[in-house]
Parts: sequence; C-alpha cells; structure tokens
Amino acid sequence: MPAIEVSSGIYWIGVNDRTTDLFEGLWPITSEGVSYNAYVIDGEKKVLVDLAKDMKGDALLAQIAEIVDPQALDYIVINHMEPDHTGVLRTFHRLAPDINVLASPRAEKMLSSFYQIESNVHFVEDGETLDLGSHELVFYHTPMVHWPETIMTYESSQKVLFSCDAFGGYGALQGAIFDSDCKSLRFYEDEALRYYANIVSLFAKPVLKAIAKLAEVEIDVVAPSHGLIWREHPERIIELYKKWAEYATVGPELGVTLVYGTMYGNTEVMVDAVAQGIAQANVPVNIFDVRHNHASYILPSIYARKGVLVGAPTYEGELFPPMAHLLDIIKRKRIRNRMVSYFGSYGWSGGARRELETWAEELRWEVAEAWEFPGSPTNEALDKGVKLGYRFAQAVKDSM
Ligand code: FEO
Repeated sequence: MPAIEVSSGIYWIGVNDRTTDLFEGLWPITSEGVSYNAYVIDGEKKVLVDLAKDMKGDALLAQIAEIVDPQALDYIVINHMEPDHTGVLRTFHRLAPDINVLASPRAEKMLSSFYQIESNVHFVEDGETLDLGSHELVFYHTPMVHWPETIMTYESSQKVLFSCDAFGGYGALQGAIFDSDCKSLRFYEDEALRYYANIVSLFAKPVLKAIAKLAEVEIDVVAPSHGLIWREHPERIIELYKKWAEYATVGPELGVTLVYGTMYGNTEVMVDAVAQGIAQANVPVNIFDVRHNHASYILPSIYARKGVLVGAPTYEGELFPPMAHLLDIIKRKRIRNRMVSYFGSYGWSGGARRELETWAEELRWEVAEAWEFPGSPTNEALDKGVKLGYRFAQAVKDSM
C-alpha cells in the first residue's frame, strides 16, 4: 500500500503480511494476516519508527523511499526488538550504516546479539526528549509490554503515540488504516483481543502500569505496530486494553467457556446437555471443540470469562491429549482464579478427572464438580448433565 499521512509530517509506511501461517511460529494468522506498521517523521530531522519482519524487507524499503531516501534518515527508533518489528534491521543498516539508532538501554545486548549493531546507538532514558525542529519525541520506558526493552515513543506536536505491540492486534489492513475509515471495527477489536490473549496477557500488570504512566499524556492518535491506527477514538483501544488487562487483576466477566474434545462422540453428546443447563441459568456460553480450534482462538474466551467447563474423555488413563495441550498453554499463560467443572466418558477406567484436578490445583482454579461416566450417556446421564451445567453456571454467577 502507498504511504499514508497520519498527521502533519508523520507517515504510515507499514506492510501487510498475508503469508505467515503462524505468528511467533505459534499462533495461526493464515486467514486474518497481520500488519507491521512502521512510520516516518518527515520534518527538519527525519526519523524512522520501527520496521517489519525480514520477509517484508523489499516492500518496507520501497514504502520508506516513497517519503524519504533511507540514507537521508537521521534516526531510527527501535521501540521493541522482537524480529516482527526489527527483522529488516540488518538489511536496512547495510543501506544506512551511519544512522543513529534510538532504543532502550535494555536493548543493548539484543541489538548486538540479533544484528551485531554496537555503534551509533543512543540509549534513551525514561522521559527523555529529542527535539527534531519541526517535531519533538518523548520516550517512555514500558518494560514487558511486551519484552523488557520495550519503549513507546510520543510525538508531542501532533500528539501521536507510537505504542508498538501495545494497543495492537492481528488482522492485515484491508485498505483502511484508520479506525474512522474502517467498516470492520468488530473484526479488528476481536483480533486485538486474540492478539492480547496470545501475546501480551502474561504481562497484564506491566500493561496497566504503562496505561497509568500515559494517563496524563494527551493522545490524539494511537499508532501501534500491528493493526488499525486509532485516530477518531484513540481512547477506545486504550480502554479495551485496560479492560482486558484487568481480567488478570480485578477479575473476568460472567460467562462460561465450554471446551470439549471427543473420540467417538460420547463426551460430545453430553456437551449439548450441559450447555442446555448453562442456558437455563441464563449465563452466556462459548463452546469450542478443542480438536478443531487452535488454542489461539480459545484463549480469549478463557481469559475473559470466569467459568471453564472441560469435557474430555479419558485416553490411556489420562486426559484426552488435545485437551491436555490446551491446559498446558493455559498454564504457561498463568491464567489464574477461574472456576472449573469437568465431565467426560471413559472405556474401562477413568483417569482424566484426576489429571484435571491436579492441574486445577497448580493453577489455583476452583473445581466445582468433576464427573466421569462410562461409555455412552444414557437419558438419565444426560439429565444429570443438564443439571451439572445449570449448577455450574449458577455457581459461577454466585462467585462474581
Ligand atoms: Fe509485535 Fe512483541 O512483537
């Protein structure tokens, strides 16, 4: 896409990635894509803010050249070292070896180990300003949003915040780059939550700390490094990120994530019965089949809702492996303080229930009920399932 002016003398020169299947080698984006937003400040001094993944080198360099000769740039700001934003740095640095690099002091070792850049680097202090003549930059240290060296850069004449990962989301840009022009806001907000749950959620406290730090800063434009640029309602994405980060500190919303796996359909039959009970209690429910839905798409619901109902058969005396994999990811994301119930079918002996209970204890999740049933559920068992769903949903409600 051609470069687009964001604000006076500030240009978006980002690129879309619709080629990568797994973001970070982990999280599916085949259908949604992702953008790597980078920016040029074309004033008395010329500044490049962030880059892109290495596979997009040619496209990014062409975008930069639309606005300014890369060799005429005075500075490059590296808000964050993760290679989705710096992959092009090695090539770019060969083109412009004398450019002044601006980064957090915590980026020093990373600049050396990733790209062997050790000179012409200025490590900015928290709150440090840089007068560009026509523009002025202020650097805010925002560690762990998403790595320790992460900073945000604020351009004070136009009140533009270059927030990097914070306030970003999956989803390649579909022609419109601003919230004001976008006809699919819901898509970008959902993809921002998925990105938050996948990439940033472990760092909820640093996110809240960063938002508090920026509370007094007047922000007219939130210009993240992924997804939409928020120019009409910059407060909207900041409020959403605050709400999502508070799921980890204040607590999640009322609702149940019913996640299940099944080998021959016996546990699956019970899913509808249990869901009926949840609906009778008038509690919202999201249902996922763990065999067909990557954890990336299930995590936002687990993260946002208080109740988790796990339906999975026993497999060789243990929990059905695809479910165990999901639970392992939840454990790595340290999603705490949920309420959980379990149901599942077994052949000759149970075992899944025991594993689920051990896992819940490690995660500090409260187990409301756990029920293993043999083989195919009878009508009587299905009736029991409806009641289990109802009791669980009521217990979730009561816990809020
Ligand atoms: Fe978009 Fe932490 O990288």
